[in-house]
Amino acid sequence: MTLRIVESPREMRKLAETLRAEGKTLGFVPTMGALHEGHLSLVRASRGECQVTVASIFVNPTQFGPQEDFERYPRTFERDRELLEREGCEFLFAPNRAALYPEGFATAVRVERMTDRLCGASRPSFLPGVTLVVAKLFNLVRPHIAFFGQKDYQQCLVVRRMAEDLDFGVEVRMCPIVREADGLAMSSRNRYLSVTERTQARVLVRALVEANRAYLSGERSAERLIDSMRDVLETVPQARVDYVEVMDAGTLERLNRIEGKAAALLALNLGETRLIDNHILGEALDY
Ligand code: PAF
Repeated sequence: MTLRIVESPREMRKLAETLRAEGKTLGFVPTMGALHEGHLSLVRASRGECQVTVASIFVNPTQFGPQEDFERYPRTFERDRELLEREGCEFLFAPNRAALYPEGFATAVRVERMTDRLCGASRPSFLPGVTLVVAKLFNLVRPHIAFFGQKDYQQCLVVRRMAEDLDFGVEVRMCPIVREADGLAMSSRNRYLSVTERTQARVLVRALVEANRAYLSGERSAERLIDSMRDVLETVPQARVDYVEVMDAGTLERLNRIEGKAAALLALNLGETRLIDNHILGEALDY
């Protein structure tokens, strides 16, 4: 089956309802385009579990702050379309801005608490913008399961919270981070990096590997694990660190001593590029 492109929200909703009425399980992969292997792994996960897969491409203006990279965010629609078709994705929902945010649009969708930290602290528009657009996309695509990448760990937990709190009836699936051969987590923003910055960007995964090594050797103090990551990050003085945290993997609460499942989470800026990464401590990370 060839990939069918749907631009109209109304048509998307009608199509979703027809597919549901036929008893099909709908998988959904929301994206902002500039697709890479990470996105394609989500399409594969959806195809493995669902009878029909819908991907969306929409560079969502409400999740970018005024000084952020909305204008220069990579837009590679033709290539994205080909990649999705090659993966066997059935539908691509690609609305335009006016269709999703018409004149007079005035609604907000916010998740409290776990949005005030990590990316939420330095990018206040980001998570409210994500929950707003994802709520709209869920209402239009009507998926049974939505697939998100672990690289945006906080985003995934916040969307899951929203889906539960607002009774969307959508299961939010978190799929593993896909990494380049040297360990750098795949991201559409990696293409902003200069050759030098691309080499320096490896410091993120090196810091996570160090924390993971210490954790596996028995270290359970969050502070000492954070310090061990900071030591690694300091080896690249050009990296402007936004946050280095070790948090409860389910609630994103700060920890003193790790007792349950914990995530190490990092964000930094290299030149004009913001990079994030994370790891569930104790899981394999061999770079
Ligand atoms: O992760 C992304 O690409 C975006 O934040 C998302 C979930 C598609 C919402 O615009």
